[in-house]
Amino acid sequence: MSVAIIGGTGVYALGDEARPEHVATPYGDAAIFRLSIAGQEVVFLPRHGTAHATPPHRVNYRANIWALHALGVRDVLATQAVGSMHQLMAPGHFVALTQFIDWTKGRPSTFFDGEDGVVLHVDVTHPYCPRLNARLLRAGEFLGPALHGAGVYACTEGPRFETAAEVRALRQLGADVVGMTSVPEAVLAREAGLCYAAVCIVCNWGAGMTDFPLTHEEVLGIMAEQTANLRELIHQFILAQSSVGCSCESLGFARYLPQGTGALQDV
Ligand code: HPA
Repeated sequence: MSVAIIGGTGVYALGDEARPEHVATPYGDAAIFRLSIAGQEVVFLPRHGTAHATPPHRVNYRANIWALHALGVRDVLATQAVGSMHQLMAPGHFVALTQFIDWTKGRPSTFFDGEDGVVLHVDVTHPYCPRLNARLLRAGEFLGPALHGAGVYACTEGPRFETAAEVRALRQLGADVVGMTSVPEAVLAREAGLCYAAVCIVCNWGAGMTDFPLTHEEVLGIMAEQTANLRELIHQFILAQSSVGCSCESLGFARYLPQGTGALQDV
C-alpha cells in the first residue's frame, strides 16, 4: 500500500468506500478507508471525518499520520480548501503548495515532545515533496491555467476565518492562499519520513478582499462544483510517474517514532 489521499473540507468520499477501518495508534484511533483508484489500492483518510464533525484545530493530526506510516504508505496527497490572496488564483482554481507560513497556536505538532528523551528538529526548508509535486503537475495538465504550480500557504488556527487585517498582513508576508490544516500535517509527514504534497482548491477570496462575509456554505459550494475535477486529478495523480528525486525519507525520523500496534480494527 503506497498511496494515501487525505481528504479535506468537502472531500468525504472518493468513490466506492466500504466501511471505515480503525487503526490503533499511540494517539488514539484513526479512521481510514481502503479503495481502488486507477487499479491501485489506495488509503483514503477524510481529515474532518465523513460528516465534517472535527474542526481543523481539533483534528488528530498525529494519529492520522502515524496510521498512514503504520499502514506502509509512502506517498500522501492532501486536499485543502483555501481562501486566496493572489489575484491570479481565483475561486475554482487549484494550487500545488511549495511553502507554508505557520500561524497556528498550540496544536500538538510533533511526534517528538521530548517525553522519551528524544529531542529532534526536523528540516522543513521545503516542506512539500518535489517528487510528488512534479507528479501532481503532470496529473493536473488537463486543468490548464486553473492549476497553479507553486503557492505559499498560510495556516491559521481557525475555526474562525481571518480578519481583513490578517489577510493584508499575510499577503505582505508572501502568502498566496490561507487555510487551517496543512500545519502540522505536512510537518508530521516529514517527521515520519513520508512524501507529502498538497493540492488546494480555492473557494473564496480572502477576508476583506470582497464586500461579502465568508461562509462555510460558500466553501462547500465551490468544493461541490470542483468534485469532478478533483476526482480526475486524484485519478491522474495515482497513474502519473515522476523522475524527480526527493529526500523526504532521509530527512525524516521514522526510526524514532513512538511505537504502537498499528492494528486494524474492523468496526
Ligand atoms: N480562510 C481559512 N480557511 C479557509 C478559507 C479562508 O478564507 N477558505 C476555505 N478555507
